Amino acid sequence: MNNPTLYPLAMRIVHWLMAALILALLFVGLSMVTSLGVWQYQLLAWHKAAGLVAAFAVLLRLAIRLRANTPKLPDSMPKLQQYAARLTHSAFYLLLLLMPITGYLMQNAAGRPINAFGIAFPQLLSTDLAWYGVFRELHAWCSVLLIMLIILHITAALYHGLIKRDGVLQSMLK
Ligand code: HEM
Ligand code: HEM
Repeated sequence: MNNPTLYPLAMRIVHWLMAALILALLFVGLSMVTSLGVWQYQLLAWHKAAGLVAAFAVLLRLAIRLRANTPKLPDSMPKLQQYAARLTHSAFYLLLLLMPITGYLMQNAAGRPINAFGIAFPQLLSTDLAWYGVFRELHAWCSVLLIMLIILHITAALYHGLIKRDGVLQSMLK
């Protein structure tokens, strides 16, 4: 199979739309838990609806990814770095699945119905405050890991684009 230099258009579009959505969700999530203002409830409603969109988007993205022919990392890159890049990407997909799952189950365990886009989403767990605490902690810890991963990822992307100039940043940009 030939080695493309660019990610397929569908993957580039989903990558950038999801990057914006995930950064907004993290920003809104962190803002709403640090305030008791009335606007917190509006943000929470947005957060839940947008979080469900993110869940759908990551499933779509995985489906595209599994069929796509993606660019190989450059041979000039040390094997350990190539391995680290692949590990980071897998960790991204895992966390992008865990964030909406823990958010959803947290709401179920708290006994708070999830309504978004005119749909009443099913209750998968019965109300249990101990489980609410577990999913709430998991949601927060996963978000910390996700933020650390994003910082690492952006630093690596800029290193490739500005210092190495080896086509890795371009593969997701054009
Ligand atoms: C990729 C998707 C998501 C991301 C990145 C995300 C991110 C976050 C972050 C950063 C926080 C603040 C955590 C803290 O420091 O305590 C938060 C809180 C919260 N999230 Fe999410 N979230 C996502 C999806 C969801 C979903 C799908 C739901 C529910 C349907 C949800 C429900 C909540 C709730 C209720 C809180 C506030 C908890 C509280 O006030 O105690 N999240 N989220
Ligand atoms: C805003 C700055 C960002 C830049 C400059 C950037 C840049 C890039 C580049 C250049 C690649 C291709 C790297 C390679 O082939 O090894 C890539 C892949 C990837 N990015 Fe980002 N990214 C950004 C934000 C994000 C965010 C916020 C997320 C999380 C939602 C994310 C998730 C991913 C994933 C999962 C891949 C792997 C694609 C695959 O092979 O399936 N990126 N990114």
